[in-house]
Amino acid sequence: MTEGVSRTALNVAAHRARETERAGALFIDPFARQLASREGFATAAEIARLSGLSWQDSTPTMFALRTRYFDDAVLDAVRQDDVRQVIILGAGMDTRAYRIDWPEGTQLYEVDRRETFDHKRPILDSRGARPRCALHDVCADLRDDWEGLLLAAGFAPGAATVWLVEGLLYYLPEPDVHRLLDQLAALCPSGSWLLLDVAHPMMRDLPALQGWRDALIALGEPFRSFTDDGCALLDAHGWVADARSIAQVARDLGCEVEAVGSLAVPRLLCGRRR
Ligand SMILES: C[S@@+](CC[C@H](N)C(=O)[O-])C[C@H]1O[C@@H](n2cnc3c(N)ncnc32)[C@H](O)[C@@H]1O
Repeated sequence: MTEGVSRTALNVAAHRARETERAGALFIDPFARQLASREGFATAAEIARLSGLSWQDSTPTMFALRTRYFDDAVLDAVRQDDVRQVIILGAGMDTRAYRIDWPEGTQLYEVDRRETFDHKRPILDSRGARPRCALHDVCADLRDDWEGLLLAAGFAPGAATVWLVEGLLYYLPEPDVHRLLDQLAALCPSGSWLLLDVAHPMMRDLPALQGWRDALIALGEPFRSFTDDGCALLDAHGWVADARSIAQVARDLGCEVEAVGSLAVPRLLCGRRR
């Protein structure tokens, strides 16, 4: 049952499934294929068709590289500072609760719309998946009072936190982005971490990307906010950040990815609360 579930969330799962099955995979997500379901693969194929792209079996896609980057970044953050509170906003088909080696005592909160969890948990349960941390579902719309629901689920505002905001920010209009970043900063102490990705204005403007934009419009999930300086954006909201491009991540992992277009601009951010 995928009614009401974000098609782009299913698309990401389809890419994770493809990566999991690729020789030399950057990560293994044993649940991705079922979570993606037929709709996820159909969506991925349609986006590729309208974008004029084809999937190469020999190389990881942008989604695979992004997933691996955040896998590593989130584990580095919790281990480096003994953080035991992790929040994944717009969690979609994220299965890190089940596949990452979390430190003992980790409390992980996933925030997304109810339909997401209605799709996801029964599939994971039917596969016998067991979270490797204390896992809390927070069914909320990030434009409403999601903070109240997060607090009601047990979130401790005074505790050091890792926020993971992967594949979400640019689906929100700009005023909502600024509000969200302020909310995150207000909810956690200095030293907390914010991991997220942003969309560069070239993704809005490049004529060559019109087919890809049309695909997202057809899905009802167009990108709505952009920045050419993610570090400055985070700085304005209380975070000191480093940024990396997908091409840099690929190079670090020994993968061959052409450093062109949006792959070459720094879009992956790792921030710390001032
Ligand atoms: C592209 S998916 C990415 C999912 C996940 N972070 C990942 O990387 O696999 C975006 C997710 O954000 C969620 N989302 C978008 N806008 C939202 C909102 N206003 N409130 C709650 N969730 C939202 C969607 O339901 C979807 O699951």
